[in-house]
Amino acid sequence: MSKSVNVAIIGSGVVGSAFINQLNNLKTAIKYNVIYLALNTSQALFSKDYKPVDLSTYTTTETQQPLSLDDLVSYLKDSGKPTIFVDNTSSEAIANFYPTFIKSGISIATPNKKAFSSSLKIWNDIFESSKVEGAGLVYHESTVGAGLPIILPLKDLVTTGDKVVKIEGIFSGTLSYIFNEFSTTEPSNVKFSDVVKVAKQLGYTEPDPRDDLNGLDVARKVTILARISGLEVESPTSFPVQSLIPKELEGVQSVAEFMEKLPNYDNDIQKVKDEAFAENKVLRFVGQVDLETNKVSVGIGKYGFDHPFASLKGSDNVVSIKTERYPNPLIIQGAGAGSEVTAHGVLADTIKIAERIAK
Ligand SMILES: NC(=O)c1ccc[n+]([C@@H]2O[C@H](COP(=O)([O-])OP(=O)(O)OC[C@H]3O[C@@H](n4cnc5c(N)ncnc54)[C@H](OP(=O)(O)O)[C@@H]3O)[C@@H](O)[C@H]2O)c1
Repeated sequence: MSKSVNVAIIGSGVVGSAFINQLNNLKTAIKYNVIYLALNTSQALFSKDYKPVDLSTYTTTETQQPLSLDDLVSYLKDSGKPTIFVDNTSSEAIANFYPTFIKSGISIATPNKKAFSSSLKIWNDIFESSKVEGAGLVYHESTVGAGLPIILPLKDLVTTGDKVVKIEGIFSGTLSYIFNEFSTTEPSNVKFSDVVKVAKQLGYTEPDPRDDLNGLDVARKVTILARISGLEVESPTSFPVQSLIPKELEGVQSVAEFMEKLPNYDNDIQKVKDEAFAENKVLRFVGQVDLETNKVSVGIGKYGFDHPFASLKGSDNVVSIKTERYPNPLIIQGAGAGSEVTAHGVLADTIKIAERIAK
């Protein structure tokens, strides 16, 4: 008889629906029984007898209220089969529940950064819980660089005894696009506020671009990489993070007013760009983890025209990992956002877990 696992999926937004589609088309020896699917905060598909949800018709199937997290843990535990919980939301409340899932023997695959980049306590709770006999496994490749292979290779290096020296990278697709357009190796007069405007029109930014420009998303990713490398970072706000939002515009209420006033501050960043250009350098928005000085930081960096970060295209991410074994850094580059690549990272994690726990 073929092996199988139970799967519970939360969220059917951009990443969640791509994940469901990829899982539905998966052809492997292991059978994935989706016994719980919460489309969003108010609609879920499941049945008391654990009949698998049909993923080819889930959008037109009648729904019911999702279970509370406590009830969901009980429901999954009582299924009596190895179970993978796939969290395709950005919910902090769900993230805070991971230790409970793990202690109950339920494994987790997720692109949700919250659990891994908030307080150090929740990080420690998660990884301490997973050491207990019978605990669930935790895979979160897509929390940094979407589907790019960063987390697992880094964990493999550290687990096998390598020492990280420095990690440096461009971890925001939005800020990658903005700086790749704004600061080039060719002379250009493009204005910072105009690039932000175009990025917003193209749908590359959050609805409020300040949620990208404040650097917090990059700080969360850098927190995860620092912790894997052995630095006990307290939180994503416990180290210097440069915000690209002019101080005077932090309190502006509407997005429209912010966008209207942003051009008033173009001269400040233009000056930094011109100074860099005079030194044959471009500006990039980077996150850094330095294990020699034990420092973590996020902000604008200057890179020579021949540096790999200077030739980045579109909204790609790039990370450079320098370790004792890799003194010439390992460079990983490619799409760092997008539904298909992110979902593939989550599905690959789900498969890795299933290969270890399916019965
Ligand atoms: N999009 C990308 O390119 C990308 C890249 C890397 C990582 N990620 C990560 O992937 C995750 C999903 O991103 P996304 O772009 O797919 O977001 P999204 O389009 O906003 O989808 C989120 C989904 O989760 C649902 N949800 C939220 N809280 C829930 C809860 N308590 N119970 C049930 N459903 C809940 C939402 O439902 P409601 O509508 O009811 O709130 C929505 O369906 C996030 O953690 C994000 O940071 C995304």
